[in-house]
Amino acid sequence: MKLFAIETSCDETAAAVVEDGVRVLSNVIATSLDLHVETGGVVPEVAAREHLRQISPVVDKALFEAGCVWTDIDAIAVTTSPGLTASLLVGVNTAQTLAYIHQKPLIEVNHIHGHIYANFLEREVPPEFPVLVLTVSGGHNELVLMRGHHQFEKIGETLDDAAGEAFDKVARLLGLGYPGGPIISKMAEEGDFMAFKFPRPMLDEANEFNFSFSGLKSAVRREVERLDSATDQTIKDLAASFQQAVVEVLVEKLLFAAQAYEVKEVHLAGGVSANRLLRQLAEQRLPDDLVLRWPVQTIFCTDNAAMIGAAGYFGIRSD
Ligand code: KG4
Ligand code: ZN
Repeated sequence: MKLFAIETSCDETAAAVVEDGVRVLSNVIATSLDLHVETGGVVPEVAAREHLRQISPVVDKALFEAGCVWTDIDAIAVTTSPGLTASLLVGVNTAQTLAYIHQKPLIEVNHIHGHIYANFLEREVPPEFPVLVLTVSGGHNELVLMRGHHQFEKIGETLDDAAGEAFDKVARLLGLGYPGGPIISKMAEEGDFMAFKFPRPMLDEANEFNFSFSGLKSAVRREVERLDSATDQTIKDLAASFQQAVVEVLVEKLLFAAQAYEVKEVHLAGGVSANRLLRQLAEQRLPDDLVLRWPVQTIFCTDNAAMIGAAGYFGIRSD
């Protein structure tokens, strides 16, 4: 079964063709990222205008690169929430129009479920339930337990900023640009993660599976304000110390939850799952009998439409 999928919830205009929920026949992404670098974050009106400009060529390219025509497509999947309203509307209107013209069923997909299903793409061996997913991105930060397809039980979430958002805000504080995650992680490679002692928030039992990163971000701000001037090396040390604190919290929570729910697999999903330290520390800390996965391609970590095709497919599959 071939699904045509569309994703426009933030600043990526994306379309893909996915076969049987796992094989990616095409995965086209046009981003308006460059336009958001100056503002240090996504400006909703700018993102929506860019989606309007990009959506037609992206749709055409996705179909072409998959070697398909519309009669080959069985259904259309589209992200309907959560996300920036005006941006989502561009994708939804396009999907509705295509579904009407080509007489295809329309499947509504939740963006976070899309990130979760990114881990099912291009796998030789399909994941085995129960699965614990840490889905961590610019807009969300959740621990989700799955006992079967499309059974999403949220067992924890952030009470304020998501980890990706904290990366973005700290990068802005340090004058490093947007998006912060990849830049901070690059700077951190040459920094000393022990140079600054930042808090590891919410590691007490009362808050077992919830997160909070806004205090950590404020701790970095206070440190920056305390320093009269910061050398390149100080910035690298700040980046490394901040990243270490975020990742240690994410991995600790993952470990608590994996033990509490006796899962077979642990999955990392969302933009922050591209983070090298997160992968390394998860590999080190989680027991060997747990299968640990992250998306097979980095492009499946951040926003893309292939993941929406996967989530759409497994949502309608009857078995
Ligand atoms: O999933 P995504 O593309 O969009 C949302 O749904 O939010 O995730 C983008 C987020 C940004 O906050 C970005 O800074 C973060 O993912 N990110 C990373 C890395 N790559 C992207 N964070 C840490 N390390 C990375 N390598
Ligand atoms: Zn996302």
